[in-house]
Amino acid sequence: MTKIKVLFVCLGNICRSPLAEAIFINKVREKNLTDHFEIDSCGTSNYHIGGIPDARTISTALKNGIKINHIVRQFAAKDLESYDYIVAMDRSNHQNILSLSTDEIHQQKVMLMRTFDPLGKSEEVPDPYYGSETHFQEVYEILDRSIDNFLLHIEESYKSAGQI
Ligand code: 4NP
Repeated sequence: MTKIKVLFVCLGNICRSPLAEAIFINKVREKNLTDHFEIDSCGTSNYHIGGIPDARTISTALKNGIKINHIVRQFAAKDLESYDYIVAMDRSNHQNILSLSTDEIHQQKVMLMRTFDPLGKSEEVPDPYYGSETHFQEVYEILDRSIDNFLLHIEESYKSAGQI
């Protein structure tokens, strides 16, 4: 079975994207679609390579019933080849990824998370790194509703092609 490959990207890969990855994994599991997906997250920077997500990311996820299991890695140009959906948290991440390839097929894979947010389609997922627990919970809520919509979008595309 060909897997649908989804990659969430932020700057450090310790706050927003590992939370997005864990939320997405949970929703895919709830829909019994785990076997259809390969899911990961990474950062555009090299700041935290090999580390684990921020303690506030892990605790916010747990408070919302989600376990995080991730080792930080940096985005690489080859990800544009191997992933089907590359979902950036903000415009800076989005631009940094796009700058790595001029191939139109690659460029079409790169999207902004909040284009799927019914409450803020043109906004960015705010960086909570210098914020408080409240900012982390706000990021959780943005991701939770954006990912609901994102997963529906994927299901519609692949169901009409008879692949899931
Ligand atoms: P993230 O947040 O991109 O959501 O993981 C950040 C984490 C670390 C840093 C910046 C943003 N930093 O500068 O180390």
